[in-house]
Amino acid sequence: MTDSGMFALTGKVAVIWGGGGAIGSAMAATLAGAGARVAVIGQSADRVDAAAARLRESGADCLALTGDATNLDECRRLVGQIVERHGRLDICLNAIGGGAGKVLYPAEDYPVDAWDWIIDLNLLSTLHGTQAAAKAMIEAGNGGRVLSVSSVRGQLGIDAGYSAYVAAKGAVNALTRQWATEWARHRITVNAIAPTFVDTPQVAMLLDDPEFKRKLIDRVPLRRVGSTDDLAGAVLFFCSEASSFVTGQVLTIDGGLTATQ
Ligand SMILES: NC(=O)c1ccc[n+]([C@@H]2O[C@H](COP(=O)([O-])OP(=O)(O)OC[C@H]3O[C@@H](n4cnc5c(N)ncnc54)[C@H](OP(=O)(O)O)[C@@H]3O)[C@@H](O)[C@H]2O)c1
Repeated sequence: MTDSGMFALTGKVAVIWGGGGAIGSAMAATLAGAGARVAVIGQSADRVDAAAARLRESGADCLALTGDATNLDECRRLVGQIVERHGRLDICLNAIGGGAGKVLYPAEDYPVDAWDWIIDLNLLSTLHGTQAAAKAMIEAGNGGRVLSVSSVRGQLGIDAGYSAYVAAKGAVNALTRQWATEWARHRITVNAIAPTFVDTPQVAMLLDDPEFKRKLIDRVPLRRVGSTDDLAGAVLFFCSEASSFVTGQVLTIDGGLTATQ
């Protein structure tokens, strides 16, 4: 297959953990645009319903489900509902996380409650969502795709009190390699994308500060902040046949930021 058909997702079913969020809903739209049926998951029914309504307006077959992805039983229940509805699950996208800017502390005094919150939000949700999805994929025997949203902070330190977030995203990168190794025998590929700042509500307060934004852009060779559209090509690549021999990789999507470090 050498044409754009290698990016087609017709007949595939995807779960998007955090699909009610800014990046998750954009990723869901990308997959749906390539023909996948999608299920968006979050804790707030309002948020997932709103995301699902937008997706359906543009023609997507979208299921909206609520649950807490830090709880493995909940994740298995949610995956069960998707498989019951569609008879299969092919793609697991992990887009739950963030919170880093809300809990900034010096490394030597990083409080354990903030640590637990960030690790649960960014790492435990990724662990349990992926475990539930991968088990269904393994049982079905059709292979699959796992793609997690990491961050450039998984590989770069930052002098701004981010201990828990860098630990969580570094662990997501490590698990990407570990899962890729363990699940290759099941033809499940596991990759991650690692963006720098993406223009979303989570970082809006920072980007609204002109001085912060100017300094940020000065460090990015392509001289701009990322958008959710900048993630779409990688999402399609990693979730389709186009990447069938690519696994265990973390792709930075950062306008060249990490190339300068
Ligand atoms: N935005 C950026 O600049 C940026 C840059 C690099 C990496 N990232 C990463 O990209 C990912 C998505 O970020 P975003 O900006 O799209 O954040 P977001 O808009 O806050 O989306 C995250 C979604 O996750 C859901 N969620 C949180 N906890 C959950 C749980 N326990 N169970 C189920 N759903 C849960 C939230 O919905 P509920 O509250 O309804 O549960 C929310 O809709 C994160 O991993 C973040 O670290 C973001």
